[in-house]
Amino acid sequence: MREKLKYYIETWGCQMNEEDSEKLSGMLKAMSYTRTDIKEEASIIIFNTCCVRENAELKVYGNLGALKKLKQKNQDLVIAVCGCMMQQKGMADTIIDKYPFVDIIFGTHNAYKFPEYLNRVKQEGVRVKEIADKETEIVEGIPIDRESNIKAFVTIMYGCNNFCTYCVVPYVRGRERSRKPEDIEKEIKELISKGYKEITLLGQNVNSYGKGLEPAIDFAELLRRINNIEGLERIRFMTSHPKDLSEDVIYAIKDCDKLCEQIHLPVQSGSSRILKKMNRNYDREMYLELIRKIKNEIPNVGLTTDIIVGFPGETEEDFEETLSLIKEVEYDSAFTFIYSRRKYTPADIMEEQIDDHTKHDRFNRLVDVVNEISAKKNKEYEGKVVEVLVEGPSKNDASKLMGRTRTGKLVNFLGHKSSIGELVQVKITKAMSFSLMGEEI
Ligand code: 5AD
Ligand code: SF4
Repeated sequence: MREKLKYYIETWGCQMNEEDSEKLSGMLKAMSYTRTDIKEEASIIIFNTCCVRENAELKVYGNLGALKKLKQKNQDLVIAVCGCMMQQKGMADTIIDKYPFVDIIFGTHNAYKFPEYLNRVKQEGVRVKEIADKETEIVEGIPIDRESNIKAFVTIMYGCNNFCTYCVVPYVRGRERSRKPEDIEKEIKELISKGYKEITLLGQNVNSYGKGLEPAIDFAELLRRINNIEGLERIRFMTSHPKDLSEDVIYAIKDCDKLCEQIHLPVQSGSSRILKKMNRNYDREMYLELIRKIKNEIPNVGLTTDIIVGFPGETEEDFEETLSLIKEVEYDSAFTFIYSRRKYTPADIMEEQIDDHTKHDRFNRLVDVVNEISAKKNKEYEGKVVEVLVEGPSKNDASKLMGRTRTGKLVNFLGHKSSIGELVQVKITKAMSFSLMGEEI
């Protein structure tokens, strides 16, 4: 029998890119390729790139350079580069010129055409470079090869209309487009029939879901519809923009049994002055008011956030306002970023760029405060019994199992292997800085 052809795929960046890679994988498996983690074994190598933060280009160039030798050894090897970075002005041409052994270059809007590009390379022996400037209609029905068989990400909308001044996403992912609720429900029902228990609804700004759809529907209504799907155990969603998170969504979390008590609500900065320069469309007070409302309606809610330090013009006072906001909100955890200049974004040409030393110093102070609060929040779980969806063996200790609470906390615990894929009750025995330890009861 002929040995199956293999592909290797490497993904940088956010959950959106992960999902695109799952689709590329799904298409390749449908073409009877199998996945490998060893580049040398592969007959197709795909790099799915990201451009949200700096150093991304250098990483991609370095990784591409290393492929030259492989291509010399195997002329049939197909090398493809895709993802957000290819949507940036001039980038695809740079790759074409600098790396003549790259066969296929495509962007975020036309990944669904990958089988066609592959065919052209193989049949016609040409190089393919196709970047769509504008977002296309949503293409449904692409096979998805998911990493887990217990929890899945389901994209409900693409793109972003917000144009935060530091961010490239609106330029590389295009304007907001929402999937039809029927298509989302269909995908979730198929996942349930395969045994999936938890889904995370995905979008850059899920709270503005539904704009332009007929008949009209908003995010809160979508949540309530999905909550009615039988067989599903848990629903999460990300990312929420504070300016768009409505009371209706808060009430939906309160009312709907499957909706987990967890919200990822990026604040970016605690200073109203900086938030204005970031074009976030809320200020410190509005954000804190929203947090008060959430905590009031959803006791023990898990709150996480994204924070950027060193945005142009950020003073020591602005930064201290960020620290004080974090202490006031008491996030369960936070993704912390050093501001990085992104070409073509308004913040890149702002004066008063902050020097590296100050940025790193603020970053370290920020991480200390975030970690201290995470540890304190984790401590509150000691002695409590929580519901955990068991995902598999623990990463560091195979004699234990791992899973997450409804609030999103990672738990490593002693339990029965037969519980994998099930919801179990776990008594928390010890809180660590970034996870909890416990025993199944
Ligand atoms: N520099 C630093 N962090 C950024 N993010 C987005 N763009 C930048 C940038 N230019 C962060 C934001 C966003 C998260 C996904 O990445 O905090 O919420
Ligand atoms: Fe970027 Fe702002 Fe859109 Fe998030 S909301 S993707 S930070 S522009």
